[in-house]
Amino acid sequence: MNKIELAKGIYYVGVVDWSLRDFHGYYTPRGVTYNSYLIVDEKICLVDCVKAPYAAELLERIQSIIDPAKIDYVVVNHVEPDHSSALPIIMDKLPNAKVVLTAQGKLELVKHYQQNYDFQIVKENDILDLGINKLHFVPVPMLHWPDSMVTYLENEQILFSNDAFGQHICTSQRFDDQIIVTDALYEAEKYFANILMPYSQLIPKALAKLGQLQLKMIAPSHGVIWRKNISEILKKYEQWGQGYTDNKLVVLYDTMWGSTEKMARRILEGVAAAGMTAALYKMSAADRSEVVRDILECKGILVGSPTLNGTMLPTIGAMLIYLKGLRPKNKTGGTFGAYGWAGGAQQDMENLMQSAGITMENGPFIKWAPDDTELEKCFEFGFEFANKLINS
Ligand code: FEO
Repeated sequence: MNKIELAKGIYYVGVVDWSLRDFHGYYTPRGVTYNSYLIVDEKICLVDCVKAPYAAELLERIQSIIDPAKIDYVVVNHVEPDHSSALPIIMDKLPNAKVVLTAQGKLELVKHYQQNYDFQIVKENDILDLGINKLHFVPVPMLHWPDSMVTYLENEQILFSNDAFGQHICTSQRFDDQIIVTDALYEAEKYFANILMPYSQLIPKALAKLGQLQLKMIAPSHGVIWRKNISEILKKYEQWGQGYTDNKLVVLYDTMWGSTEKMARRILEGVAAAGMTAALYKMSAADRSEVVRDILECKGILVGSPTLNGTMLPTIGAMLIYLKGLRPKNKTGGTFGAYGWAGGAQQDMENLMQSAGITMENGPFIKWAPDDTELEKCFEFGFEFANKLINS
């Protein structure tokens, strides 16, 4: 087994889950990694764990470096089971290990696994002295759960950031400079949109704390370790935390007999004619995790559905429920679609978009199938909607 050393005595011992495609509803076409790190000093410390099915692989990696029984501490930065569910399995092999976590983390861990380990509760500015290396703990509640914290290795200037700065991407390489960096940044954007977007208002405060640290590496618990593009990923987090939007728009729709699709395409042409970059997603064919990545930096969201049985199509309903939970910042929205008799999709789509925090404008709704005049109105709507956003 190859040893992967981040710095002297600091090892990667995580696992690569090449085949996972669904991370609680987030489609992960490139798989997922669960990064775990081992610090070998006078005291030996494991930082974060992995998902239960990979406990044996984690132990094997540790065993290739030291006897797991010598581990003194296991830092649990975050209790979500992708990082902690192997813990009850490996703790049988770690008879001397204290479990280091926040007070909230202890509550969550005990409730998840009904195990009463030798806990060491830490809070902001606490330091764990391992010998040469010293670990500093920085709680970052809600990034991603109430228990979440990051751990800073002072001597080597490595931040073990857990979910923050993560990406769902599998590769045989472990560092950002070993892969195409746009891949890492793209997946980091998708990760932020799908996992951290609801908590983005907490990012500036967290970055202010981390900004005081010298960073040679950011070692997240998912994806590659940032050692070359640290300023780029920090800048992106700063932008996303501030609700930065670019000059772009997302049109998403589904269609029954093609009428709403015709409207969507004509609206898109109007948006493009106004000079705005736009992407078109047919939700019966699109991956909502990818759509959400595009939504993160967009200014406008236009959603189209015909009326089916008095409401929107289920594909649109699922997308808008997902968006409601993610609460995107600084978005203006509109709806459009075709209907046969009483309608109903419009009101339901608007209600969901408003509950997602989107500021709404009126869009076009037409009966049965659009004629040339109605399609021209769709073009004009797209043009004017985009123009308004460009000039806002
Ligand atoms: Fe990677 Fe919130 O767990």
